[in-house]
This record gives sequence, structure tokens and C-alpha cells, in this order.
Amino acid sequence: MNASFVQLAYLVATGLFVFSLHWMNDPKTARRGVGAGVLAMLIAVLATWAQPVVVHHLWIIVAIALGFAVGWPLSQVPLTAVPQRTALSHAFGGLAAGLVGTAKFYLWYREGPENLTAFVMIAIIAEIILGYLTFTGSLMAAGKLQEVKWIPQRPVTYPGQNLMNIGLLVIALAVGVALIVNPTASWAPAVFPVIIGLALLFGVLLIIPIGGADMPTVIAILNAYAGLSAVAMGFVLDNKLLITAGALDGSSGLILSIIMCKAMNRSFTNVLFGAFGQVQQQKAGAEAQVYKPETPESAAQIMEQASLVVIIPGYGMAVAQAQHKIRELYDLLKKRHIDVKFAIHPVAGRMPGHMNVLLAEAEIPYTDLVEMDDINGDMPQCDVALVVGANDVVNPAARYDQSSPIYGMPIIDADKARTIFAIKRSKNPGFAGIDNELYFSEKTWMLFGDAKKVIGDLVKNLSDGSGMH
Ligand code: TAP
Repeated sequence: MNASFVQLAYLVATGLFVFSLHWMNDPKTARRGVGAGVLAMLIAVLATWAQPVVVHHLWIIVAIALGFAVGWPLSQVPLTAVPQRTALSHAFGGLAAGLVGTAKFYLWYREGPENLTAFVMIAIIAEIILGYLTFTGSLMAAGKLQEVKWIPQRPVTYPGQNLMNIGLLVIALAVGVALIVNPTASWAPAVFPVIIGLALLFGVLLIIPIGGADMPTVIAILNAYAGLSAVAMGFVLDNKLLITAGALDGSSGLILSIIMCKAMNRSFTNVLFGAFGQVQQQKAGAEAQVYKPETPESAAQIMEQASLVVIIPGYGMAVAQAQHKIRELYDLLKKRHIDVKFAIHPVAGRMPGHMNVLLAEAEIPYTDLVEMDDINGDMPQCDVALVVGANDVVNPAARYDQSSPIYGMPIIDADKARTIFAIKRSKNPGFAGIDNELYFSEKTWMLFGDAKKVIGDLVKNLSDGSGMH
């Protein structure tokens, strides 16, 4: 294929990638965004494949077949497993960048050392450090989220840990600098794997002090690293599309992690080094807290009297896949002229937009999904707050308890509603591993059980007309 035609195809693909990200900003255009991303990737692969330098077509076909074999099952995972699925994708991206950098170094060392300029060497070193650390870091992150038995969920910390991690990175960088200065030295091929080994080790050590609750944020940070390693790969291969696509990937990962940190009122350093989610000491002298269980029947009766019901979904709604039952409840309440809104916390669930995606799947109108900042003002007028499998995002301790790991995280003011019904299966804490005083409030009634089942019972009671006035 003509070289300028390839560049034109790359330009079109870059444009589509940019539009793809833009369209993802809104649920109404998100599907179009996904389509644009798929099309852009297809154009990118075909235009690269059509270049005259590509001669081993069979290898490309094998690679595409392998990609499908891995990608297809990955696309079938349930929504609750999307964060770890995303981590696996980053692991593959990082590994690909690392392997390309390694192959290019050894190829050029033997058959074209003049290619190993300082600029190319800087790009190769950046590519392999970022690529390999993203590989092992993302695998660890995926393992923690998937709750793989031999990977501890809670942060593993020891004295001098940060010093050791930073020390390892500094050694890898120092060896990298030695290679940048002497890329064709006789010892260079033997020393190159040292950087690979240190980067692989660093990826593991970077993740072990981070608790499961912070994994989604860490995955977004790893996304940024994978993007940066793709940018470096673009410089090594002199491929402009890799540079632009990698930069988009890297910057969107970074922006996403910043948004998540803000929503949790945490800093980057706190996420990476704060060992969030360690087992909390039970507070001395804590009084035995009492839950007040309630039946779906009585809850349905109270809901029927309400003018405004605010449903606050959390991770438990995703686990129970309760969104379709919630849609039925929404319809029944609306039929009775009750105003129903959904309060969406930016980090409810386990990934950004988690609640929006589930509620959109159940075709709940976007106009009734209200962001935390917009709904909080209405909470004192709310007759019933229905908390569906949400815990940390409605925990009032975040407002004042400086010793709480979620201190400072903005929350949905469920506690300001007149009556609160909270659905969860047990007395277990949420992801941050702490009790929630909202459940012990005198205004709160617990509806214990699986969210889908409990909402189903509420629906049944409402449609039976029990308690209709
Ligand atoms: P959590 O605090 O994790 O609480 C979820 C609750 O759902 C649990 O208390 C659990 O109680 C209940 N639950 C689980 N399965 C259920 C089922 N089948 N039926 C009914 N209830 C069920 O969730 P949240 O309030 O959504 O908060 C999200 C947490 O994740 C926050 O700590 C947040 O910082 C963290 N996080 C989120 C993100 C993103 S981007 N979303 C990123 C980083 C961190 P039982 O076990 O008793 O049922």
C-alpha cells in the first residue's frame, strides 16, 4: 500500500479514536463511541498489515487468530468482572510493548547497531520498563480483584517498603542509562534482561501494598502506564498512530484515575502508598450496634405514602443483577405518581459509570439518574431513601471521623432522608472494611437479603396492592 495512503488511514483512525473517547462521555452516544473505536482499530490493523515491510503474513494471521481466541472469552465476562478484565487487557498491552522493545533491541544490536541511537535507546528503555511493570502489575491487580486465593486481598506492608520499591526502580533506571550510553557494548545483551527482571519485579511489588478497594484506581493508573509504553513503542518503530493512540490511552487513564481519586477525596500518593483497606482495629468501647430489620411488605406500604423516593444503588445491585427488578419497582412507583430518582455516586460499584451502565441496561431514563452533588440538596425532602447494596458511599463517618479510611470521601446524604431502607445480605462491611452507622440510625430499617430477591418482594407487594390506599 502506498505510504501516504497508510498515513491517511492512520489519520482517520486517530480521528476516530478521539471521537470514540468523546462519544463515551454520554450514555446516549456511548455505543457509537464503542463502534468508532472498533472501526479505528480495524483501520489501524489493516493499514499496518498492508505495508510492504510486512512479509510474514502467516504470522499475522496466527496472531489475529490468537487475539480472537483470547479476546472472545474476555468479552463474555459479567459486568462485575469488567475491572479485572480491563486489567488483563492492560497486561497484554504492556507485555506486547515490552516484547517489541526487547526484540527490536536484540535485532538492531546484531543487524544494525547504527539504529540504536540515544533517542531510540531512551524510547526502548522507557518502553520495556513501563511495558513489563504494567504486565506484572496488571496481572496482580486482576488477581486481587478476582480474589485469586494465593494473592492477598489486604495490603501487604513491611518497614522500608517504599524505599525498597523506589530503590529497585532507581537501579533499573541506572542500568538503563548505562545502556543508553553504551548500546553496542559487548555486555549490553547480557545486561538488558536485568532491566526486564527489575521491571517485572517492580510491577508485583508496586501492587502488593495496595488494597483491593483501590484496585480500580490503580488499574486506571496502569492504563496510563500501558499508554505511555505504547507511545515509546511508537517512537521505537517510528509509527505515528502508536504515538497518538498511546497518548490518548495514557492521558485518558490518567484523567480517569484523577477523577476517581477526587471522588474518594484521596491523593495519588495515598492510593499508591497509603495501604488503604488494612484490617481496622475495632474501636475500643464501641457500643453494640443494633440493626432494625423490616419486612418488604411494611417497606412497600411506607413507600406508597412517599412523594419522593431516592434509590441509591451500590456494588450489591451489580452483584445481585437487581437492575431489571429495580426497573419494575420504578415503574410501579411512577404509576402511583411518586417521584423516583436514582442517586449516583461517582465511585459506587467497582468501576466508573458502573451504576449508569446497569441502570441504562434496564432502560431507566437517564433524566432520572442524578449525580451526587445534584441530589444531595434534595435529600432532606426525600421521604424514602432506598439503599440497594451500597455501603461506603452512604457512610456518614466519611464526613467527620478522621480515623476512618473513607474520611473526606464525599457521600450521598442518605442519612438526611426521612426514612431509610437498606438492602444487603448480611452484617458484613463494604469494600473499605468498616461498619456503617447509617444502618444503626433510628430512621433506618434493614431489608436483609439478596437485592434482586428483596426488590422482587417489594414489587410483589406493590403490585398485589397490599397497602394501597
Ligand atoms: P460497597 O461499600 O462495596 O458495599 C457493597 C455492599 O453491597 C456490601 O455492604 C454488601 O453487603 C452488599 N451486597 C453485596 N452483594 C449483595 C447482594 N447480592 N444483594 C444485596 N447486597 C449485596 O459498595 P459501594 O457503596 O458501591 O462503594 C464502592 C466502594 O468501592 C467504595 O469504597 C469505593 O471507594 C470503592 N471503589 C470504587 C471505585 C469505582 S470507580 N466505582 C473505584 C475505586 C474504589 P453484604 O455482603 O452484607 O450483602
